[in-house]
Amino acid sequence: MKHFDSLLRITTQEIRDILQTAATLKAGLKAGERPAILAGHTLTLLFEKPSLRTRISFETAIAHLGGNSLFLNAADAGLHGRESLPDVARVLSSYSDFIVIRAFSQTLIEEMIKYSRCPIINGLSDRSHPCQALADVFTVQEEFGDCAGRRIAFVGDGNNVARSLAVAAAHLEMPFVMSAPPGFEFHSQFLKRLHEQFPHVQIIQEPDPRKAVAHADIIYTDVWVSMGQEAETEKRKSIFTPYQVNEKLLQGAPAHSKFMHCLPARRGLEVTDGVMDGSHSIAFEQAENRLHLSKGILAWLSGKSVGSQPA
Ligand code: CP
Ligand code: NVA
Repeated sequence: MKHFDSLLRITTQEIRDILQTAATLKAGLKAGERPAILAGHTLTLLFEKPSLRTRISFETAIAHLGGNSLFLNAADAGLHGRESLPDVARVLSSYSDFIVIRAFSQTLIEEMIKYSRCPIINGLSDRSHPCQALADVFTVQEEFGDCAGRRIAFVGDGNNVARSLAVAAAHLEMPFVMSAPPGFEFHSQFLKRLHEQFPHVQIIQEPDPRKAVAHADIIYTDVWVSMGQEAETEKRKSIFTPYQVNEKLLQGAPAHSKFMHCLPARRGLEVTDGVMDGSHSIAFEQAENRLHLSKGILAWLSGKSVGSQPA
């Protein structure tokens, strides 16, 4: 049984298949097609944290594909205390064809996988956000025609979104520059793993955001305070202020560069209104693409990918 938990445990060809399926289903949807390839299937969403895009893109995706969804927050599911996690996993997966989990800890997702009888999808954890990363590289592919060789500069926190994006980028041979203040960069263990798995792809850290964006095709940022880090808000705001993506920073980037953000954005903090709403921004195309990638992931997990991208 397959799971969609980490982009470090999926092949490049499988990623290409998911991207191709998403592209086919997106083109079909624009032509009014909603193929019921998952008729009778139930998707359960088990979320410990709030969500707009992940929750609604998956709920809409399964509806378009002919199936249905159920949403449970962690308290209602009795995840912490009412019964053990293995028992929740065994019971929930006996009713479901897929479970999307949004968790504070990646360990919870890994534990669910151990006991689940159906595929588990990582809908964000403290360490990763693989669904977002696939929508991101899909958006780059739509924008630039191809991903290979396109350079991403991620300016801000070396967080869950940055990590998954770096892995997705490496699969598709995109150079990646992480520009974070000291103490918030990628950990050396994570970098070592990436360099071992993708020895030919450039993945570097550049603490100066101006140098990081100078040759970037894509400038990406995310919130400075992720869900679960609220107690660090004031400290983080002062540390990350020099990493704001604003008009001045973009002036030092190539004219053709695009701005991306996984959303939700804290306008006025990590990004200004001018950049979010400016001509470089493709953040809302990215958000729409979450729907198409949610379909691609569900189709891949159920062996119903449509089409395959050449390697
Ligand atoms: N980008 C993203 O995952 O958004 P949500 O937190 O709203 O799901
Ligand atoms: N890094 C953010 C992403 C939200 C989609 C968080 O974890 O809160």
